Amino acid sequence: MARRKQIYEGKAKVLFEGPEPGTLVQYFKDDATAFNNKKKGTITGKGVLNNRISEYLMLRLGEVGIPTHFVRRLNMREQLVREVEIIPLEVVIRNVAAGSLSQRFGIPEGTPLPRSIVEYYYKSDELNDPMVSEEHITAFGWATVQDLDDLMALSLRINDFLTGLFLGVGIRLVDFKLEFGRLYSGDDMQIVLADEISPDNCRLWDFKSGEKMDKDRFRRDMGGVEEAYQEVARRLGILPEGGPRDFKGPETVQ
Ligand SMILES: Nc1ncnc2c1ncn2[C@@H]1O[C@H](COP(=O)(O)OP(=O)(O)O)[C@@H](O)[C@H]1O
Ligand SMILES: [Mg+2]
Repeated sequence: MARRKQIYEGKAKVLFEGPEPGTLVQYFKDDATAFNNKKKGTITGKGVLNNRISEYLMLRLGEVGIPTHFVRRLNMREQLVREVEIIPLEVVIRNVAAGSLSQRFGIPEGTPLPRSIVEYYYKSDELNDPMVSEEHITAFGWATVQDLDDLMALSLRINDFLTGLFLGVGIRLVDFKLEFGRLYSGDDMQIVLADEISPDNCRLWDFKSGEKMDKDRFRRDMGGVEEAYQEVARRLGILPEGGPRDFKGPETVQ
């Protein structure tokens, strides 16, 4: 196997130099962290499932005209993506009160919000990903007013599409986090969806029972974490009968 240059190791993924210029390989790990790295663990099979789930959702979003970094899956844990200049923001879209929004404003978890709320957090582990306003973002040069316009419009379109997609498989999309990046071609710049969309960064509740099917099961020591991720994949129609072990293909290629 050819040695590849590792570019970055994050909490959930490793980035390698891709086979062509301007591409990267995202390797999905089973490592799980919560509360800004204070809680650490592993969720067996998570990397395999998130690789598939993120691929599936990015492809569906691509079909409705959302530009994404996704190129193709390489194997069970790896996908090829276009290298982008990551905008250092976590864009959080909320439909139902949960997590930090419930805590900060004293709104019980599960309360539907009168309209979707988009929040921005500055991506910085050292600073604990502080919440920031558009004023901070433009003043500190993390994104321009035009970038923010694009981020907001893309985020709301993604939210509408994913809300419907998950509803179709009996899942309520409570909230989720996105990352975007700048893709340059010549003089042109386009903002594209990057990183991943998976139960690691979405709150997904079973529509009927309200049962959590996401990383909150890990954060809150609820058990059944692996099963919850598998069930999301199964409902999306991307998990083979025998579970993630039945996925065909080598663990790594190239
Ligand atoms: N297409 C891309 N180009 C460059 N960087 C990317 C791309 N997609 C995601 N990233 C970055 O790669 C990292 C993915 O690894 P992850 O484990 O999620 O890291 P982190 O611990 O920083 O969240 C993130 O920092 C993310 O911003
Ligand atoms: Mg991350």
